[in-house]
Amino acid sequence: MTSCFSYRYACVRCAAPQSWGAIRYRCHLCGQNLRIQRKVNGEVPSARDIVSTFRGRGMWRYRALLPVESRWGSRLVVGGTPLIDCGDDGGVNLWVKDEARNPSGSLKDRATEVVLAVAKRAGCTHAVAASTGNAGASLACIAASQGMSATVVVPTSTPFVKLAQIRAYGAKVCEIDGTYDDAFEIAERMADDAGVCCRNTGINPFTREGKKTCAFEMAEAFDWCVPDWVVVPTGDGNILSGIAAGFLDLYALGITSAVPRLLAAQADSSNSITRDWQDDDEDTALPQSPTVVSPETVADSLSVSRPRDHFAALHALRVTRGACVALDDARILAASQTLARRFGLWFEPSTAAGYAALHECLATGRIQAGSRVVLLGTGTGLKAPQDFDSVAPGHLQDYAEAVPRGIPEERRHCRGEGQT
Ligand SMILES: Cc1ncc(COP(=O)(O)O)c(C=O)c1O
Ligand SMILES: [Zn+2]
Repeated sequence: MTSCFSYRYACVRCAAPQSWGAIRYRCHLCGQNLRIQRKVNGEVPSARDIVSTFRGRGMWRYRALLPVESRWGSRLVVGGTPLIDCGDDGGVNLWVKDEARNPSGSLKDRATEVVLAVAKRAGCTHAVAASTGNAGASLACIAASQGMSATVVVPTSTPFVKLAQIRAYGAKVCEIDGTYDDAFEIAERMADDAGVCCRNTGINPFTREGKKTCAFEMAEAFDWCVPDWVVVPTGDGNILSGIAAGFLDLYALGITSAVPRLLAAQADSSNSITRDWQDDDEDTALPQSPTVVSPETVADSLSVSRPRDHFAALHALRVTRGACVALDDARILAASQTLARRFGLWFEPSTAAGYAALHECLATGRIQAGSRVVLLGTGTGLKAPQDFDSVAPGHLQDYAEAVPRGIPEERRHCRGEGQT
């Protein structure tokens, strides 16, 4: 089945085709990001024939739709994450796609898996990435399992848990006195050497290819009937464009008969895509460059001043008739607690922004009661020190006071009181 398809690069903005072979990062004409275009060789395979090839666990189940052979993938199981039915929530049927179950704890592993498979096939032995934390942890993790070395360039604002995770996998960490945007440019320059692959989000077109598999899993879980809305936590916009591309692939191949609407969730201070989207009008061209913002948010993985997959993200919103909402930190933290306490799901603040965005859209009528909605749980709460304050010793003490029965007097110590 894989041989039915061949691939080439095309610019996301000017659509110029560029030849396949080497790993390419930018359009040679306009400098924009590239996407991977699939072409059918010979007779178009039926949807049934394509679906019959979907076998095995994890994201390589969809190997027929991926632009690299599965033998180049890692030994880890990436993808195949649960879609949790949360029942009725505020009038909609809510499911949460639990991407925290991936090897490094975030959806980023899907992208890294394909990026490094392509890099390995191309003979690269080293990979580099700029990261707010998760992409770097993911690169370090999958590179370790592939026997590749990795360097991760991070801003000083990166949470210590994510730094510890990157180091634990043995990657080199380059902590720079600057922003994620500065890190992005440094990492891109580091990858100028032959044999080095750059995993930077957006400019490596294979990141989007990996993220598509999350859309494939959601559609398959609904028996190829797509939900009405998918809520996507959004910073650089690469998850958004990847999820859209996955659903559009299925639609183009006749496997599904609709495409869900996408709701992008951003943080108030990191709202470049929201700003550029709010005046969207189908008859006008999409903006050539992003509005630059100054992020300062608890949702560290959404913290970008110049989204690196901006054009493709806006295009994704346009083709899916999507929406975009930005939330302040107080609402993000409150949503995080609600998700954890109502459903037993503790994600990082980026996902909580998605949950808050859903409730904002329910309140404004943008999403209607009775809709079927999937929230992407993009990363685990275990890496989110922002949430630790709400369960500091004071709270544990309250808990012990609330349920003292059965605990002998001398054992009623709480953390923070010097005794275990
Ligand atoms: C957990 C998590 N959610 C959401 C995002 C946002 O993805 P993107 O930057 O592609 O919009 C990230 C990116 O780092 C992330 O780590
Ligand atoms: Zn171009």
